[in-house]
Amino acid sequence: MIVPLAAACDRDVEGGEALLQELESSDYRNAWGRAPGWGRRLRGDSPHGTWVDVYINDVMSEAIADNVPLDAWPLESQVVVEGWATEDATEREFLVVMSKPTSLDTWYWAQWGADEALIYGGEDIAHCVRCHEAGEDEVRAFTLPPISMR
Ligand code: HEC
Repeated sequence: MIVPLAAACDRDVEGGEALLQELESSDYRNAWGRAPGWGRRLRGDSPHGTWVDVYINDVMSEAIADNVPLDAWPLESQVVVEGWATEDATEREFLVVMSKPTSLDTWYWAQWGADEALIYGGEDIAHCVRCHEAGEDEVRAFTLPPISMR
């Protein structure tokens, strides 16, 4: 019997764990920038729930600062969303990440729940892409450069 690969790849436990460790050691809350238009914890308008913090890594911040029109975010781009029940909650409800490693050349999608259990991890995750394909390079919270700051 042929087991469908797509389903098997929706929860890449090893890759997800490696990414989570990488993110934790990056200290994104302090070391990264905030996504354009998401300067602080804001009420999201998405299934990702109520209050979200959106962080982008230096690769994305630099692409935004360069202000050169792009068709896609550069390799090594990473964007992290932390979800919370309220504006000042300290217990995270979920973590979702889009990461574009050079080895993959496309987004790697990952979602963890409150207990840091991996819910989704992998490339081409249909559950994520069906909403995200509406965004420029599949990013929903902000556009590709050039970005006019509101
Ligand atoms: C039903 C639609 C929907 C689904 C399903 C969905 N997202 Fe999102 N996502 C959004 C919207 C809309 C935003 C914009 C931020 C907001 O409004 O909260 C967003 C924002 C994000 C962001 C911040 C960067 C960006 O694209 O704006 C990440 C990272 C993210 N989602 C990851 C994921 C992952 C990983 C999955 C699958 C496990 C997923 N999303 C599934 C709608 C969706």
